[in-house]
Amino acid sequence: MGTPTIAAPLTEAELRLLQALVYQECGMHFDERRTHFLQDRLQRRLKECQLDSFYSYYRLLISAQGKQELARLLENLTINETSFFRNKPQLDLFHKHILEDLIRDKSAAHDFSLRIWSAGCSTGQEPYTLAMLVADSLAYYYLRHRLPGMTLTPKPLIPAPWRVEIIASDISYSVLRTAQEGIYSEHQMAGVDYSYRLRYFDKTGERYAVKKALKEVVHCDFHNLKTEYLPQHNDVIFCRNVMMYFDTAEQKRLLDKFARCLNPNGYLFVGHAESLLSLTSRFVIVHRESGTAYQKVEEPV
Ligand SMILES: C[S@@+](CC[C@H](N)C(=O)[O-])C[C@H]1O[C@@H](n2cnc3c(N)ncnc32)[C@H](O)[C@@H]1O
Repeated sequence: MGTPTIAAPLTEAELRLLQALVYQECGMHFDERRTHFLQDRLQRRLKECQLDSFYSYYRLLISAQGKQELARLLENLTINETSFFRNKPQLDLFHKHILEDLIRDKSAAHDFSLRIWSAGCSTGQEPYTLAMLVADSLAYYYLRHRLPGMTLTPKPLIPAPWRVEIIASDISYSVLRTAQEGIYSEHQMAGVDYSYRLRYFDKTGERYAVKKALKEVVHCDFHNLKTEYLPQHNDVIFCRNVMMYFDTAEQKRLLDKFARCLNPNGYLFVGHAESLLSLTSRFVIVHRESGTAYQKVEEPV
């Protein structure tokens, strides 16, 4: 058995170095309220790597061989809490108003593509919720406005000629694997009502698996929101409960990027504890019943 490594305590200077590195790599900002969490995760990684000082750990992270460890550290620092149908008023605004308008306007313009991005999708409950809502909206729209030649049965999830793409991205490979798998426990299904379970899931033992047709609409991909290379031409972006871990400067940079990633007049949803007020002039607030979203404007306000 190897001798256990006794790690030297984390010094203030090492903490600053590591904080700065994490910020530079992914935008996450650990202020005084969250340094304890950062310290705890750093300690765990140091032990795992069997290193004896935080400075050697920092050296590893910035080295060419340290790329994998850096990804692992970032994964360990993320908070992945999520659920199906999270924040119902926002989803009602998306479903009953925004999607309705998008489908109507795009049909009139013979543009049958819809692209929605769940940025910071965690284990997939958000993008699959969006996929269910889009499928329902299209079905309801064509119940009222039949396309010439459209058959009544069997009904495809996404009626031709529509092309729907929901991009589900995250910085953590492990949550993306779960999202890609699309299998959830009874506990995770708490927010999914009976009719959604029946139509969009198969029950396998004690677990629920997202049906193949719905999975095909969702494309899981790694994207670090800190970078410039992000999915373009989106009609709607959901980035909920992600920006709250960034500082103001990073939030402003991200909002500029989102404005560039959206189609004209596209929509952005952020978490209910997050607000764009005083951060950007590229969006205006849209408020219906108790749901809030932001719409991109071409002329900054
Ligand atoms: C609290 S979860 C939110 C999940 C979902 N959007 C929701 O509201 O239910 C935050 C997610 O953002 C991801 N995240 C944090 N920083 C990120 C970054 N720089 N780039 C991409 N994803 C990031 C985390 O890995 C985590 O899965």
